[in-house]
Amino acid sequence: MTRKVEIFDTTLRDGEQTPGISLNAKEKLEIAKQLEKLSVDVIEAGFPIASNGDFSAVKAIAEEVRGPIIAGLARATSKDIDRAAEALKPAERPRIHTFIASSPIHMKYKLKMTEDEVLEAAVAAVKRAKSYVEDVEFSAEDASRSDIEFLCRLYSEAIKAGATVINIPDTVGYATPREFANLVTTLMERVPEIDKAKVSVHCHDDLGMAVANSLEAVLCGVTQIECAVNGLGERAGNAALEEIVMALNTRKDFYKVEHSINTRQIYRTSKLVSTITGIAIQPNKAVVGANAFAHEAGIHQHGVLAEKSTYEIMTPESIGLATNTLVLGKHSGRHAFAERLKELGYELPQDELDKAFERFKELADKKKEVTDLDIEAIVEDQAVKLPQSIEVECFQVSTGNKAMATASVRVNINGEIVEEAATGSGPIDALYRALERACNIDCKLVDYSIKSVTGGKDALGEVTVKVDKDGKIFLGRGLSTDIIEASVMAYANAMNKTLWNNGNGKSS
Ligand code: KIV
Ligand code: ZN
Repeated sequence: MTRKVEIFDTTLRDGEQTPGISLNAKEKLEIAKQLEKLSVDVIEAGFPIASNGDFSAVKAIAEEVRGPIIAGLARATSKDIDRAAEALKPAERPRIHTFIASSPIHMKYKLKMTEDEVLEAAVAAVKRAKSYVEDVEFSAEDASRSDIEFLCRLYSEAIKAGATVINIPDTVGYATPREFANLVTTLMERVPEIDKAKVSVHCHDDLGMAVANSLEAVLCGVTQIECAVNGLGERAGNAALEEIVMALNTRKDFYKVEHSINTRQIYRTSKLVSTITGIAIQPNKAVVGANAFAHEAGIHQHGVLAEKSTYEIMTPESIGLATNTLVLGKHSGRHAFAERLKELGYELPQDELDKAFERFKELADKKKEVTDLDIEAIVEDQAVKLPQSIEVECFQVSTGNKAMATASVRVNINGEIVEEAATGSGPIDALYRALERACNIDCKLVDYSIKSVTGGKDALGEVTVKVDKDGKIFLGRGLSTDIIEASVMAYANAMNKTLWNNGNGKSS
């Protein structure tokens, strides 16, 4: 029988440690639901002790997501483990993932602990986690820079204490593929209890070798790979889920393993994660980049037209790349819209469907051709919307190359109408100043980007902003065929999030 490699997705935990990312519980839940559709084996939902927000997100995912194992991270301390166990209580299949560093450099400078102390803490942590859940994963942080004798002892004791999975991290992305393969093989040979646990790897991409290292480990017999969508993660990120899975798929002749991923959900997952996190995907990114299936050189185009396999080793359809089909127009009714959503894989509750239909109608009035990509953008935008405390009722802006930009806004803040005006160095600057005045929120715009959802002059524009409020970054998004309106919506969306973070948001 072919061996199965399980896919452990850490987008919501290690991925969220990507500099500049901060997700709220609703956004995390939306990603988790998509990971369920992608059919990952394990979702590492967060680090419950890290913050109340992370605790709530893990709990919400444990309550609502069925199918994959839901894991919560905990350092090897009682407090961490108790908090993780509490958050995971509602999960159908909970896993506590506990870790402690094992390399001399981490033990000496970070933990200030001896090998024996680390070993004792690891065993106690696994036993405590085991008192809550059957499924316990143990990671020796910085394993690839650890002493092999100690590492064998540590994993051996962890398994004896009840660990069901032992994870081998290349925490700082230091190992080369050959070294990493040697490490995995040595552990497989020298940890006597190894066949009682699943063996997992967790590779970082500091030297661009995370995917190669993970795939080498597959050849050595590991049964779990930890990875993140779009390669998100601490510093240079983790091994990219989509690259691992498509390598296993495309080169099944070589790797000879099975996995459970529904590859047709890869593109949508990647896009959703990029939209929600605000981290754009580089065009030449393997598998999911905009150019991954584009053929530029004439000789390549000629080859592909004659026979696709000349230059295409996998098909766009295999990752679910949506073709930009013209589907609906302003005369399309609710039924046709609902049917199209179903075909695209969205099952929305009635109230959400009504809202999406209303937005579709508004869009169809402004834009002649409404495509699948437009519909996906509307649904995704709506899915992560928090109740709005700040609503922009109307705005006006005037600008010109010989005139100072001026803007006025009328805003409804929890039922109170406020009007303000401001000038600025351009229309966006003026509008954002007016909005800040009206809402009496002092924040700083740290990033602004705009892209069009489809081609064409009447395309939907998607604006993403990052706003700094008291040292914390909030991401806002706006979607409209009018890019000034999309910009206002994005800023108002980010401001709303600052209020929710302060507990001043009022649910509608
Ligand atoms: O990189 C790492 O070592 C980790 C552990 C917590 C598994 O993220
Ligand atoms: Zn990591």
